[in-house]
Amino acid sequence: MTNDTILVVGGAGYIGTHMVKDLLQEGFQVVVLDDLSTGHHDLLPGGDFIQGQIGDRAVLDRIFTQFSISAVMHFAACSLVGESVENPIKYYRNNVSHTTELLAAMRRHQVNHFIFSSTAAVYGNPKIQPIPEDAVLKPTNPYGTTKVAIEDLLRYCDDAFGIKSISLRYFNAAGADLSGTIGERHRPETHLIPIVLQTALKEREHLNIFGTNYPTRDGTCVRDYIHVTDLTRAHLLALTVLMNGGDSAVYNLGNSRGYSVRDVIDVSQKISRRKIPFIETDRRPGDPPELVADSTNAREKLGWQPQYEDLEAIIETAWTWHRNEAKKNECICKG
Ligand code: UFG
Repeated sequence: MTNDTILVVGGAGYIGTHMVKDLLQEGFQVVVLDDLSTGHHDLLPGGDFIQGQIGDRAVLDRIFTQFSISAVMHFAACSLVGESVENPIKYYRNNVSHTTELLAAMRRHQVNHFIFSSTAAVYGNPKIQPIPEDAVLKPTNPYGTTKVAIEDLLRYCDDAFGIKSISLRYFNAAGADLSGTIGERHRPETHLIPIVLQTALKEREHLNIFGTNYPTRDGTCVRDYIHVTDLTRAHLLALTVLMNGGDSAVYNLGNSRGYSVRDVIDVSQKISRRKIPFIETDRRPGDPPELVADSTNAREKLGWQPQYEDLEAIIETAWTWHRNEAKKNECICKG
């Protein structure tokens, strides 16, 4: 049991809800700040909930005054590569301006521990696979660029104000908590695994494969899928490091295994035992061909050991979640 209170910004979102569950299980007090623009209050596993924007100075001052916050975890970013290409201002406003306000509030209230959700999108189209943290940062879309901007700011905030941070560069978060009660619910959904499984459930007629002429094994994009609870375990380890006086750092979080879009469809067909129709279409702007993590540092320095290293295990948990969601929606429709 710990008396520490963690502010989880974006705690009602996909990764945030899993994080809140883990923190509560570990005995932390949790305060969630979320504007519910993409999050879901009904999926929140507990904690004190405040609906509001992360860039709202008054709301932040109220939270930091009312609660004795030991650390902040930030999941409240806009995180869609395609959307960021279409609407870069939304991305700079939320991911850069609002996050800057959050850091300013931390400084005002002398909260000096920050865990930041960064992304593999910071690397752009890297020459080396798997990608080490010291690879060149050259994002190919506004989303990745906004994350680089905050990683830079965090270094300066450490030098200037002593705010210690760990930035975790996620590769492709996927899967769901084993309970089947929380999982990925985006509206609209753009991510591959949920779309594939919703197609298996006949909620969609087919899915589109965005691009089949990439320089990869089968022509479709390759990604490193990492289970959401493996991600949250890494956050807990990072939090422990900072709370024990550790230094700022940046880590990749991935399984170091690449799976193509076609692999995801094949494995999903096997798990669901259903045929999943697809159509081959043009590339989606901003998509790099391949992103696979070198996560040696997280394993060695944080002592992180992912539990779900293969795609089947990850998709299995997502399938349970999506079937539960489908049943729930059916009940609501039948009234
Ligand atoms: N894809 C399809 N059809 C779809 C949806 C996706 O072919 O209907 C393809 C995409 O083109 C991409 C791959 O499946 O090649 C994975 O796409 P996702 O949308 O699931 O995920 P992204 O790789 O675009 O992005 C995710 C997160 C980002 C993060 C990135 C890091 O959304 O926040 O992983 O790898 F930056």
